[in-house]
Amino acid sequence: MPMWTMRKPRHSSFGSGLSACWGLVCCASVVLSACGGDDTSGSSGEADGAAAQTVTSTQSALVTWHKDIGPLLRDNCVSCHHTGGIAPFSLETYEAAQPFASQLVLAVESGSMPPFLARETDTCKPRLPWADDLRLSAEQKQLLRSWADAGAPEGDASTAPPDGPAYAEPTLEREDVIMRLAEPITVDGNRDIHTCVVADPGFDAGTYVQARLITAGNPRVLHHVVSYLVQPGSLTKAELEATIREQHGVGIGGRYECFGGPGLEGVGIEMLDAWAPGGVPNRAPANSGQPVDPNSLVILDMHYHPTGQPEVDEGTKLSLMTTHEFQQYVSRLVLIGNFGARPSETVFGTGALVKQPDETEAQFLIPAGAKDHVEEMTWTWQLPISIRVFAMGTHMHYVGQDMQITLEHADESARTECLIDTPQWDYNWQRAYAYDGNYDQLPVINSADKLHMRCVYDNTLDNRYVSLALDQQGKDQPVDVPLGEDTLDEMCLGAFGLIYPNLGF
Ligand code: HEC
Repeated sequence: MPMWTMRKPRHSSFGSGLSACWGLVCCASVVLSACGGDDTSGSSGEADGAAAQTVTSTQSALVTWHKDIGPLLRDNCVSCHHTGGIAPFSLETYEAAQPFASQLVLAVESGSMPPFLARETDTCKPRLPWADDLRLSAEQKQLLRSWADAGAPEGDASTAPPDGPAYAEPTLEREDVIMRLAEPITVDGNRDIHTCVVADPGFDAGTYVQARLITAGNPRVLHHVVSYLVQPGSLTKAELEATIREQHGVGIGGRYECFGGPGLEGVGIEMLDAWAPGGVPNRAPANSGQPVDPNSLVILDMHYHPTGQPEVDEGTKLSLMTTHEFQQYVSRLVLIGNFGARPSETVFGTGALVKQPDETEAQFLIPAGAKDHVEEMTWTWQLPISIRVFAMGTHMHYVGQDMQITLEHADESARTECLIDTPQWDYNWQRAYAYDGNYDQLPVINSADKLHMRCVYDNTLDNRYVSLALDQQGKDQPVDVPLGEDTLDEMCLGAFGLIYPNLGF
């Protein structure tokens, strides 16, 4: 077990923080053992809406708000559906939730809620389940349906399990580094805001990051925050700041327009965190930490989605829990794939774009009007040590539809395993997903193994995000989409949560 060293919080008045929770929320799903299909003796089988609503439950068979549905929604939905949260209505109380009963059923049955992009598909069955998976089981969906069909009865408060439905903001045990927005950000009108904030984390030498947490200054509009470490290489912090200033005209505490990434050339970028609403602290796996350079800066790539009312974010913050204790393992979030002018060779390996059947030479271009357009990249691993994968994320922009990442082992097994599939990609809900397993169970990458990243795009007006982006640029027909960091550029990028023995590099 790592020992925490106690330090006074350092407050930076600049930048924001974000943490990419690989778990929207970390509540375990409620086990509904007593609520299954043999409960039909109650009113769920006799659905008479109006009458059922007034029944106070004395029969355990009757599915009620207090006994069953309140706890279920509290664990799976309330992290977003609370007063003042990102979701448009609260599911905290019976009075608030009851009018939406049938809509809740439709949303969970269609899979649109809770938002969880990683799915098991015919072509992708990752070896481990996902941690903090808020999706409802078939039994839980049935329970919700039985409740709605019975007229959404309230039941008897005395039958509620312990722990009331009150929503509590997630917290860290310690906030050793705090980065906060230097100035309020106003979100009004109907345009999304994509902005990058430059922050100085003020790391000491020998620091490992162990946990990250974003606290939204205005949870109604903050839609996601991805934070990046800008690595100094051989530069001093002042030189690194000057490099950012040269490219974007701002230094520490400033912000610039960006989309889908920090848009910086010629510097090393590593992910620090990725956060979406409902997120819990993003913690490094046991006995591990992310080593950080004392001269690094942090960029918070923030996305605000307007509500139609004028809204102000007075101070979103990124808090980090750090330690100086040596960690047995290093855990890092590494970005691999096609994005902008990134080099296709790094310490991890070499990447190559795959030529598609209709191309004379491989190129990353999604023609205007193309549907089901595929871009693929293969990455050949060259690190001489075995590395394990603890979390995975996919990243595309508005044209993206489906992204799948597979790992082809170079040993004689020649096994191919799927690491993640996000078949209904949605720019609004990007985050990373952690595997629910211990170190020995995690997928292993060895030298000469190949990673395949396959992205499918829809560059037609059927894609509502394409329509929206064109509209915002005053265009009415799709345009050719190249690689890049604009709303109508694309990427095909994997975020790999990697963990390996701490050998000091
Ligand atoms: C991670 C945040 C989050 C979680 C968790 C979540 N929701 Fe939502 N929900 C939203 C947001 C935001 C909207 C508004 C529409 C949108 O932006 O997609 C929404 C909209 C809805 C809607 C109306 C639109 C639709 O899709 O039908 C329903 C119904 C709904 N949620 C039900 C649920 C239920 C039931 C759960 C739990 C099983 C749940 N949600 C969990 C964020 C969340």
